Amino acid sequence: MVVSRPPMGWNSWNTFGPEIDEQTVRSMADVMVSEGYLAAGYEYLVIDDCWALRERDANGRMVPNPEKFPSGMKAVADYVHSKGLKFGIYSCVGNYTCAGFPGSYEYEFIDAETFAEWGVDFLKLDYCYKPLSEPGARLYRRMALALDNCGRDILLSACSWGADETHKWIKTTGSSMWRSTGDVVDSWASVKNLYEIQRGIYEYNGALCFNDMDMLIVGMNGKGNVGVAGCTLEEYRTHFSIWSFFGSPLMMGSDIREADDDVKAILQNPAVIAVDQDPAFRQPYTVHGNPHVWARHMADGDIVLGIFNVDDNPMWVFVPFSELGIGRIAGRGFQMTDLWTGEDLGVKKEQFTLSVAPHASKLFRLKLARL
Ligand code: GLA
Repeated sequence: MVVSRPPMGWNSWNTFGPEIDEQTVRSMADVMVSEGYLAAGYEYLVIDDCWALRERDANGRMVPNPEKFPSGMKAVADYVHSKGLKFGIYSCVGNYTCAGFPGSYEYEFIDAETFAEWGVDFLKLDYCYKPLSEPGARLYRRMALALDNCGRDILLSACSWGADETHKWIKTTGSSMWRSTGDVVDSWASVKNLYEIQRGIYEYNGALCFNDMDMLIVGMNGKGNVGVAGCTLEEYRTHFSIWSFFGSPLMMGSDIREADDDVKAILQNPAVIAVDQDPAFRQPYTVHGNPHVWARHMADGDIVLGIFNVDDNPMWVFVPFSELGIGRIAGRGFQMTDLWTGEDLGVKKEQFTLSVAPHASKLFRLKLARL
C-alpha cells in the first residue's frame, strides 16, 4: 500500500501494554471521533501486542484472545470502521512477538489473508525473535508481498528499531513507515535521546516511507505501560514539535479519554500538524552552525523554522536570513508566525534573534514578504 503523508493515529501500547481489550478499543474509537482527533487527522486505531492467544488454531491461524476480544476481531474492526476510522493490528517478523505471542515467521501469507478477512488496514510488524539466518529486509519484503496480494489495502509499519542499518534497506521492502529508533518511554530523557538518534538518520526520511520516531507520549503524565517520570507540558510541546518538524508518523499513545485542554491543544494544533503533513516532504537542514536550529521548505513556498533547546541552559539563537535564501539586495524579508501561540510577529528583515528556555522549542512559519 502506498501512502503519501506520515500516517496519524492512536496505538494501544504506551498506555495499555498487555491490558488491551475490546471495550477499551471501542471507547477509544468513540473518543477519537467525539473529541475531534479524527477531524485533526488521526485516522488509524492500532491494537499493539498481546491481543492473540499463545497458540495458533488447527488451521495455523492466529486467534484473538476470547477473554479480551469476545466478539472477535472482525466485529472490533467493523465498529472502528463504523466510526470512520481505520483499524490496525500488530505482529512480528520473528517466531514470536516481543511479548511472546505468535509471530508471523513462515505464516506471512496466512496471516495477511486472516488480517484482510478481519478488515485490517494497518499492520505494525515488530522485530523480536527473528531467526538469525534470515535478514530483516527479506522478512519485511515477504510480508509486504503477502499484504500487497491479500486483496485489501493494508499499510505496513515496520518496527525494527533502526537495527541492522534498517535505513539502508527499508525502502526495498514495501513498508510505508519504519521505526527509526528504539522504544520511547514517558520521560524527557527519552525524547532527547530519540531526537539525538534522529539527527543521524533524518536524511533517510522521505515521502512514501517515513521515519517513525515512535509513538507520542504527550499527555501520559507518568501513567500507563511506558509511563516513567512524565514530562512537563513544555517538554510535551517540544516532543510534538520535533516529531512534527521531522515529519514522523504521529501515533498518539496516551489515554486520550482523559486528555485535558492543554494536552488536546498540543495534539490537535492544526498549524503544527500541517508541518508534519506538508506534501512536499522536503528534507530539513540546520541553520548557521547551530545544530538545534532547523529549517524546512514547505510546498507553498513558506519556510518553517524548528528550534529545539534540548539542553538544560537557555539557548541564544541567531538566524541570518541569508541562510534561508535571502540575498543582500533581494528586497525581501519574512513575515513570521509563531505556530504554537498563533502570534503574528510582523515582517523581519535580514535576521532575527531570540532566547529559548531549557527544554522549550519554537516553530515559526516564515512567509516571503516585500520590504
Ligand atoms: C517492541 C516495540 C514496541 C511494542 C512492543 C510490544 O518493544 O518496539 O513499540 O510494540 O514491542 O511488545
